[in-house]
Amino acid sequence: MIERVDLNKAMGVISNASHPHFEEDGSMLSIGMSVGVLGPRYVINKIPVDPDDNENKNDDMRISMELGTPRSFTKFEQVANIGSRWCLDPGYMHSFSITKNYYIIIEQPLSINLPRLAKSLISAGDAVIDGMSWHGDYPSLFHIVPKDKSKSWAGERYSFQSDAFFFLHT
Ligand SMILES: [Fe+2]
Repeated sequence: MIERVDLNKAMGVISNASHPHFEEDGSMLSIGMSVGVLGPRYVINKIPVDPDDNENKNDDMRISMELGTPRSFTKFEQVANIGSRWCLDPGYMHSFSITKNYYIIIEQPLSINLPRLAKSLISAGDAVIDGMSWHGDYPSLFHIVPKDKSKSWAGERYSFQSDAFFFLHT
Protein backbone atom coordinates (compact mmCIF):
# COMPACT_ATOMS: atom_id res chain seq x y z
CA MET A 1 0.00 0.00 0.00
CA ILE A 2 1.30 3.42 -0.94
CA GLU A 3 1.10 6.05 1.79
CA ARG A 4 1.82 9.73 1.93
CA VAL A 5 5.03 10.57 3.84
CA ASP A 6 5.83 13.95 5.42
CA LEU A 7 9.51 14.24 4.50
CA ASN A 8 10.02 17.11 6.93
CA LYS A 9 8.99 14.89 9.83
CA ALA A 10 10.63 11.76 8.44
CA MET A 11 13.97 13.20 7.34
CA GLY A 12 14.06 16.88 8.33
CA VAL A 13 13.97 18.24 4.78
CA ILE A 14 11.81 21.24 3.90
CA SER A 15 11.86 20.53 0.18
CA ASN A 16 12.86 17.70 -2.08
CA ALA A 17 14.06 17.68 -5.69
CA SER A 18 12.01 16.00 -8.40
CA HIS A 19 14.44 13.34 -9.59
CA PRO A 20 15.86 10.60 -7.36
CA HIS A 21 18.45 7.98 -8.28
CA PHE A 22 18.41 4.28 -7.41
CA GLU A 23 21.24 2.03 -6.30
CA GLU A 24 21.45 -1.59 -7.45
CA ASP A 25 19.96 -2.81 -4.14
CA GLY A 26 16.87 -0.66 -4.76
CA SER A 27 17.83 2.10 -2.32
CA MET A 28 16.54 5.49 -3.41
CA LEU A 29 18.84 8.53 -3.28
CA SER A 30 17.07 11.83 -2.97
CA ILE A 31 18.36 15.41 -2.62
CA GLY A 32 16.51 17.88 -0.43
CA MET A 33 17.08 20.98 1.62
CA SER A 34 17.34 21.26 5.37
CA VAL A 35 17.87 24.33 7.52
CA GLY A 36 20.89 24.53 9.82
CA VAL A 37 22.01 27.24 12.24
CA LEU A 38 24.00 28.89 9.43
CA GLY A 39 21.26 28.62 6.84
CA PRO A 40 20.06 26.21 4.16
CA ARG A 41 21.89 22.95 3.50
CA TYR A 42 21.70 20.52 0.60
CA VAL A 43 21.34 16.97 1.86
CA ILE A 44 21.28 13.66 0.03
CA ASN A 45 19.40 10.89 1.83
CA LYS A 46 19.64 7.21 1.05
CA ILE A 47 16.31 5.49 1.68
CA PRO A 48 16.25 1.67 1.68
CA VAL A 49 13.45 -0.55 0.47
CA ASP A 50 11.35 -1.52 3.49
CA PRO A 51 12.59 -4.99 4.52
CA ASP A 52 9.44 -5.58 6.56
CA ASP A 53 7.04 -4.95 3.71
CA ASN A 54 5.49 -8.35 3.14
CA GLU A 55 3.66 -7.36 0.01
CA ASN A 56 6.90 -6.59 -1.82
CA LYS A 57 9.29 -8.94 0.02
CA ASN A 58 9.59 -11.37 -2.86
CA ASP A 59 9.46 -8.89 -5.69
CA ASP A 60 12.37 -8.71 -8.05
CA MET A 61 14.73 -5.74 -8.35
CA ARG A 62 12.71 -4.20 -11.16
CA ILE A 63 9.83 -3.65 -8.77
CA SER A 64 11.96 -2.50 -5.86
CA MET A 65 13.45 0.29 -7.96
CA GLU A 66 10.11 1.89 -8.72
CA LEU A 67 9.05 5.08 -6.97
CA GLY A 68 5.93 3.47 -5.52
CA THR A 69 7.85 0.73 -3.72
CA PRO A 70 7.36 0.97 0.05
CA ARG A 71 10.48 2.40 1.62
CA SER A 72 11.78 2.61 5.13
CA PHE A 73 11.92 6.35 5.73
CA THR A 74 12.79 5.74 9.39
CA LYS A 75 15.94 3.91 8.33
CA PHE A 76 17.28 6.54 5.97
CA GLU A 77 20.96 7.46 5.96
CA GLN A 78 22.18 10.97 5.23
CA VAL A 79 25.10 10.53 2.83
CA ALA A 80 25.86 14.17 1.93
CA ASN A 81 25.33 17.50 3.66
CA ILE A 82 26.63 20.71 2.06
CA GLY A 83 25.86 24.27 3.18
CA SER A 84 24.44 26.74 0.69
CA ARG A 85 26.86 29.49 -0.30
CA TRP A 86 24.15 32.10 0.31
CA CYS A 87 22.16 32.16 3.52
CA LEU A 88 18.93 33.56 2.02
CA ASP A 89 19.41 32.34 -1.56
CA PRO A 90 19.83 28.57 -1.72
CA GLY A 91 20.38 27.25 -5.22
CA TYR A 92 17.43 25.74 -7.03
CA MET A 93 17.83 21.95 -6.99
CA HIS A 94 15.92 19.90 -9.53
CA SER A 95 18.29 16.94 -9.82
CA PHE A 96 21.80 15.82 -8.88
CA SER A 97 24.38 13.36 -10.12
CA ILE A 98 25.95 10.16 -8.92
CA THR A 99 28.94 8.23 -10.22
CA LYS A 100 30.41 4.93 -9.07
CA ASN A 101 32.38 6.69 -6.32
CA TYR A 102 30.87 10.15 -5.80
CA TYR A 103 27.74 12.19 -5.25
CA ILE A 104 27.80 15.46 -7.18
CA ILE A 105 25.68 18.41 -6.08
CA ILE A 106 25.57 21.24 -8.62
CA GLU A 107 24.81 24.60 -7.02
CA GLN A 108 23.67 26.82 -9.86
CA PRO A 109 23.24 30.59 -9.58
CA LEU A 110 19.48 30.30 -10.07
CA SER A 111 18.34 30.51 -6.49
CA ILE A 112 15.28 30.63 -4.31
CA ASN A 113 15.24 34.00 -2.61
CA LEU A 114 13.58 33.04 0.65
CA PRO A 115 12.20 36.48 1.65
CA ARG A 116 10.78 37.03 -1.84
CA LEU A 117 9.42 33.49 -1.97
CA ALA A 118 7.61 34.06 1.34
CA LYS A 119 6.17 37.30 -0.05
CA SER A 120 5.10 35.61 -3.29
CA LEU A 121 3.25 32.90 -1.38
CA ILE A 122 1.06 35.39 0.46
CA SER A 123 0.71 38.11 -2.18
CA ALA A 124 -2.15 37.95 -4.63
CA GLY A 125 -0.85 38.23 -8.16
CA ASP A 126 2.66 36.97 -7.39
CA ALA A 127 3.86 33.68 -8.82
CA VAL A 128 6.48 31.35 -7.39
CA ILE A 129 8.89 32.54 -10.12
CA ASP A 130 8.78 35.95 -8.39
CA GLY A 131 10.59 34.29 -5.50
CA MET A 132 13.54 33.22 -7.62
CA SER A 133 16.77 35.08 -8.41
CA TRP A 134 19.40 34.70 -11.12
CA HIS A 135 22.96 35.56 -10.02
CA GLY A 136 24.64 35.25 -13.40
CA ASP A 137 27.80 37.04 -12.23
CA TYR A 138 28.58 34.12 -9.93
CA PRO A 139 29.86 30.69 -10.93
CA SER A 140 28.07 27.38 -10.85
CA LEU A 141 29.63 25.17 -8.17
CA PHE A 142 30.17 21.42 -8.31
CA HIS A 143 30.32 19.93 -4.80
CA ILE A 144 31.88 16.48 -4.81
CA VAL A 145 31.13 14.07 -1.94
CA PRO A 146 32.86 10.66 -1.84
CA LYS A 147 30.57 7.69 -1.26
CA ASP A 148 33.39 6.14 0.78
CA LYS A 149 33.09 8.05 4.05
CA SER A 150 36.69 7.25 4.98
CA LYS A 151 37.61 9.64 2.17
CA SER A 152 35.33 12.41 3.44
CA TRP A 153 36.64 15.31 5.43
CA ALA A 154 34.81 17.28 8.08
CA GLY A 155 33.59 20.74 7.29
CA GLU A 156 35.62 21.16 4.12
CA ARG A 157 34.20 21.66 0.68
CA TYR A 158 35.63 19.76 -2.22
CA SER A 159 34.29 21.96 -4.97
CA PHE A 160 34.95 22.99 -8.52
CA GLN A 161 33.44 25.92 -10.33
CA SER A 162 32.47 26.85 -13.86
CA ASP A 163 30.92 29.80 -15.63
CA ALA A 164 27.33 30.37 -14.62
CA PHE A 165 24.77 28.13 -16.27
CA PHE A 166 21.22 27.01 -15.66
CA PHE A 167 20.17 23.38 -15.67
CA LEU A 168 17.30 21.14 -14.68
CA HIS A 169 18.45 17.58 -15.39
CA THR A 170 21.82 15.89 -15.06
FE1 LIG B 1 12.39 17.37 -14.22
